[in-house]
Amino acid sequence: MRVFFDKKSLRKFLEENRSLGKTVSLVPTMGFLHKGHISLVRRARGMSSIVVVSIFVNPIQFGPNEDLDRYPRDLGSDLRLLDKEGVDVVFCPTVEEMYPEEQLCFVEVKELQDRLCGLFRPGHFRGVCTVVTKLFNIVQPDFAHFGEKDYQQLVILRKMVKDLDFPIKIVPSPIVRDADNLALSSRNSYLTADERKIALNISKELFWIKEKIEEGNYDIKILEESRGRLQEKGIKLDYLKAVSTDNLEEKTDLAPPVAVLLAGWVGKVRLIDNIIVES
Ligand code: PAF
Repeated sequence: MRVFFDKKSLRKFLEENRSLGKTVSLVPTMGFLHKGHISLVRRARGMSSIVVVSIFVNPIQFGPNEDLDRYPRDLGSDLRLLDKEGVDVVFCPTVEEMYPEEQLCFVEVKELQDRLCGLFRPGHFRGVCTVVTKLFNIVQPDFAHFGEKDYQQLVILRKMVKDLDFPIKIVPSPIVRDADNLALSSRNSYLTADERKIALNISKELFWIKEKIEEGNYDIKILEESRGRLQEKGIKLDYLKAVSTDNLEEKTDLAPPVAVLLAGWVGKVRLIDNIIVES
């Protein structure tokens, strides 16, 4: 496994490989890897000759009062894990390597970036789109892999790729959950044992909503019941909404195809989760 800290040598290595006809998959991450990331890596491994994983905690996608400084990091353990998975290349640039001077150019996906999480994390998706564009330009992958846990991010990046004509196929992968059904996230490491028990109510409610939809009950009031129960359990919701799976527009019923997206706080930890019901 090759580890690159700078863009120039990574580009040179990938150019040589591409000239031999090799296909490239990129798995962008912020590190502190878990089984969710590994599922993306395995998907990538199965569909391209070269798998590149980027590890970069991107400062411009964090708001001023967010957890940039305490975001969990463990590069040694990440590299060991990726090596075991047969990853070819890890790109772990410093902030100075990615943003050598003041960044004046940003990528925005209007409307989609302002909904849901965008209302509570202004500038977040602009930061994501900008860094992903930079990674796309540096790596020039054929495939880019993203998890469905960050569903809004996935929809936004799909639109960005379409609107800006990136010759890249976005490959989504389903949410990976722990045995107790908590959706895997690097931020789960912030939860105390008691908070984790509370957090389990999130997947419990989402699965309950999914069951109702699958039984043919599309009444939007179902969400109100879930909101009430989650609040009783001590979860402070940013939102629990039913949206269209392709453009995130709010729905007035739960008829499939539908994405039910949730963001909420357990203590000081913000968690997101979702269920998708296809028609
Ligand atoms: O999903 C993430 O981990 C990040 O938002 C991403 C896509 C790596 C961009 O920093």
